[in-house]
Amino acid sequence: NVDMPVVGIDDLAIYVPKLYIDYKDFAQARGIDPQKLEYGIGIRKMAIADTNQDPACMAANACLKLMQKAHIHPQDVGRLYVATESALDESKALNSFVIGMLEQVYGEGSFEHAGGIECKFACVSGSYALHDNANWIRAEENSGKAAIVIVSDIAKYDLGSAGEYTQGAGAVALLIKEEPRLMAFDPKVASTVIKNEYDFYRPFGKETPLVNGGYSNLLYLIQVRKAFDAYKEKALKTGLVKLNEGEAITDHIDFFSVHLPYRRMGEKALAYLLRHEWRHLPRWKHVTKEIGMNEPQPKDPRGTIESILADTDFMKADEQFRRAFMQTSFYNETYEKKMASSLEASAQIGNLYTASMYMGLRSLLEFEFKKGTDLEGKRIGFGSYGSGSSAMVFSGIMQPTYKEIVKGLDLENDIGDRVKLSIDEYERLHRKEIDFNSAVTKAHKEFVLVKLGGSTADKAGFR
Ligand code: HMG
Repeated sequence: NVDMPVVGIDDLAIYVPKLYIDYKDFAQARGIDPQKLEYGIGIRKMAIADTNQDPACMAANACLKLMQKAHIHPQDVGRLYVATESALDESKALNSFVIGMLEQVYGEGSFEHAGGIECKFACVSGSYALHDNANWIRAEENSGKAAIVIVSDIAKYDLGSAGEYTQGAGAVALLIKEEPRLMAFDPKVASTVIKNEYDFYRPFGKETPLVNGGYSNLLYLIQVRKAFDAYKEKALKTGLVKLNEGEAITDHIDFFSVHLPYRRMGEKALAYLLRHEWRHLPRWKHVTKEIGMNEPQPKDPRGTIESILADTDFMKADEQFRRAFMQTSFYNETYEKKMASSLEASAQIGNLYTASMYMGLRSLLEFEFKKGTDLEGKRIGFGSYGSGSSAMVFSGIMQPTYKEIVKGLDLENDIGDRVKLSIDEYERLHRKEIDFNSAVTKAHKEFVLVKLGGSTADKAGFR
């Protein structure tokens, strides 16, 4: 439909807590080889929320930054959604807390005309929120107004667990508009898969998740690959992409931004997708020649994830093949060109659950721009994953006006001065042994919790 409005991400802003733990301190405290954290996981600094910050404060801080930098006022906003898996209430939505805070700046009732909800599906819900709002604009239900989608989370795992080195915290606010300055979504190709799974979940009242780590890794790869297959089918059917002899659809995606529970997972996701897309192409014989072995096959290629994981001979051989593939010139060239920039922020911040992939997008834009890459007209392919489990794959095209947004991006500056925590301080914060009045950092023109209990509306203040 040629009349369908062009919709996408117009601008974005981030908020990252000022506290962090350093991977070397953490490795020493837990008796882990620091190289495992730096290369095997891909973390150098893990962001930790101070006692006076929660997912609502972080979301409001990112949103305020976005509105100020994009010169957006409450009357320009028709919907304000928050996607999170760190909800504060079983009923009251996180976006209502955010609106309460924003109204301290913009005036009471300034968002009354707008709407919005809190969305939940582990880390993928922000992508659903983005597309539901894009479609709200495409359907012209928006009366000329924009939508704001905020993704905000604190990733917290048990002390001493394998998940502990995949923690992090932060928020990203995204402005969704017609004729966006940054990136327009490719229409009619967003694709999803969904299945009832228990790879990672957090029962009511439990602050940290129950995790089946190895299973979650494999499920993430399989679900994203399945959503990618559905995306490919739509992209070919709608004529978005035309494949010439010997081409893969990945050749038509200039950059990848995928869910990043940790940096290395992004690298593995790219390897998995490339293997899937390339194994039937003429180039594969050159790849396997460089590796020096053929790709192993599971005993039952149509088996369940459990049966594949139980096929230990295959798993061992496949790990060996995957690692060798990730050493090939074929993989490395694609990785450096299409993914590496999106992973920089992850190593500095850690997992942000819903916000991870969008922080990855922010990272890609900044570091490609700093390299001097011309992004105009380039396609970014997104692989969003949420445990439990669902994946969404979609893509977008960088707009001619993108430089207006990207030229000022500076991650370090945006995060601001950070305070390194000792492991003892971190553990006390983790155990909630520090009163919120004794926050490590002082508020600097941001929303923070100013009191506990009482009416939820006045718990936070701009300080
Ligand atoms: P682990 O047991 O620490 O991992 O758990 P590992 O032993 O497999 O090691 C990881 C890598 O470090 C391996 O490399 C090792 O070889 C390497 P790779 O296989 O990638 O090539 N390594 C070393 N490298 C250098 N020097 C060394 C060394 N030793 C080992 N000395 C795991 C890792 C991610 C499972 C764990 O941290 C965990 O359970 N995390 C939480 C769950 C998670 O993040 N799952 C990811 C997929 S699910 C998802 O993304 C959704 C999620 O975000 C939630 C949501 O949707 O809401 C989690």
